[in-house]
Formats: sequence, C-alpha cells, structure tokens
Amino acid sequence: MTLIDGKAVATAIKQEIAQEVEQILRAGGKRPHLAAILVGHDGGSETYVHNKVLSCEQCGFTSTLIRYEDDVTEAELLAQVDKLNNDPDVDGFIVQLPLPKHISEQKIIEAIDYRKDVDGFHPINVGRMAIGLPCYISATPNGILQLFKYYNIETSGKHCVVLGRSNIVGKPMAQLMMQKRYPGDATVTVCHSHTTNIKEECLKADIIIAALGQPHFVTADMVKEGAVIIDVGTTRVPDATRKSGFRLCGDVDFDNVAPKCSFITPVPGGVGPMTICSLMKNTLSAGKKEFYK
Ligand code: GUN
Repeated sequence: MTLIDGKAVATAIKQEIAQEVEQILRAGGKRPHLAAILVGHDGGSETYVHNKVLSCEQCGFTSTLIRYEDDVTEAELLAQVDKLNNDPDVDGFIVQLPLPKHISEQKIIEAIDYRKDVDGFHPINVGRMAIGLPCYISATPNGILQLFKYYNIETSGKHCVVLGRSNIVGKPMAQLMMQKRYPGDATVTVCHSHTTNIKEECLKADIIIAALGQPHFVTADMVKEGAVIIDVGTTRVPDATRKSGFRLCGDVDFDNVAPKCSFITPVPGGVGPMTICSLMKNTLSAGKKEFYK
C-alpha cells in the first residue's frame, strides 16, 4: 500500500509556481494577483481562506482578502464582484462558499467574469470543462488528477466510482475521469444519497473517490483488494484532546481500508493541500491569460 502524500506534492508544485513567477517578473511581467471574498466567520471557511492567503505568499502572488459580516446583502456582494471583475490588477478571484442563506450562491457565481473565475464554478468554465476545452477546472477535482499523474496511477479502462454529486467535486470529478485522455479514460459510476446498492457498486471499483461528507462511510467490506482510494471528506468532529477542539475526519474508515488498497490518501494531508495548490495553478494561468484574453 502506498500512502499518497498530498502535502509533499503540493509543496513541490508550489515551488515550481514560485519559480515561474520569478521568471515572469524578471521578464518584466506582472505578479499574479488573487482576491478572495469571505463572508461571515464559518470555521472551515476561515481556515481555507487563511491557507489560500498563505499559499499565495509561498507562490509569490499578491493576495487580497475582502471580508463581510453575515448580514451583507446580495446587492453589496454583487457590487463587490463587479468591482473585482473590472479591476485590471486582479487576475482572478473567488467567493468562498457557503454563503448565508439569504444570498443566492448561483447568482453570485454567474456574476463573476468567467475569465477571472479561478474556482471554475461559472457555467462557462463548467461547460468548457465538460467538453474538454481549455478552462479553469475546479480545484479539488483538478488536485486529484494531479495526484494520479504524480503517482503514475493508471486510470484508463478502470472502473471509477465517485461517491457524491456536488457541483464542486462529484459532478466535475465524474466528467474529468471519463475524458478521452490521461488521467481519465475511466468507466465512471456516480453514487449518491438515492443509490440503493452503494456497497455492490464500490466493490466493483478499481478507483473510489469519496466526496460525501459522511465520516467513515467507506468501510473495508466495500473495497476490492488493490483498489485506489481517494478521500475528499473533511468533516470536523469534536475531539477534546486537540487544542482546536476538533479533528478532520475523512469519508473513509482509513485504518481498516488502507491494508486492502494499492494507493490511499490520508485525511488530513491528502486531497486538501492539493485543492489549494490547484487554485494557485489556476491563478498563475489567470496571470498569464493562458485560457482567455
Ligand atoms: N467551499 C468549499 N470548497 C470551496 C472551493 O473550492 N472554493 C470556494 N470558493 N468555496 C469553497
């Protein structure tokens, strides 16, 4: 069994990005600039955005954090999106999700200029991704593809089961795994809360990508010998022994599943660091105007 070290891969990729930024600057180019809008004080979102700002520093990017309280109106947020769309110094920006219930996430996402949508959530980027055109690909699925590449994990002709159908992970992941290229060329099954035979589907899988948000959902009796297991879960569960009062729990029962696998990602230290690294890659592409002028 090989433990996939997402933290090490992400560190290596961020170093490559930093070197490329230095080259861009030496050639008289502009430092890439990522802006992030954060609404409220959700613990998970605070951590993600904090890590995004830190990663920008490591990559040599400029970063701007714009904060609002939970009572911000949709109109105020739309005005801020419009401002960032029209700010020539900002190459790309994200609006951290989830947003408070009184704000339509879809309306905000669709207001973002797709050429600056480094999260890859805008319908234009989602559509382009689905038909294999150059675009911003959402960070978590793209991070997982990078892990397959880094560890030379075969995906062609494999049976891949994606657990979860969210717009951020499950749906794009399934699309990407069926693309006619590596990493891809897999036969993909998507399982979700209404799937009746999840265990049987998982037992047929060469690759399982678990993105349900249900701690320890995938147990050893659901996993075929030699399978590749990618765990996207990051549920916070109370843990009095930790200073923070919680620990991150994956969707996979790691201790019992790991001995059966060929490759497995830990939580934390697997997919998480790769997600932020992919956002950095998208920001570099935005700075270089790689996909859109
Ligand atoms: N919330 C959870 N994951 C993400 C992400 O990748 N981007 C944004 N903007 N919000 C998120």
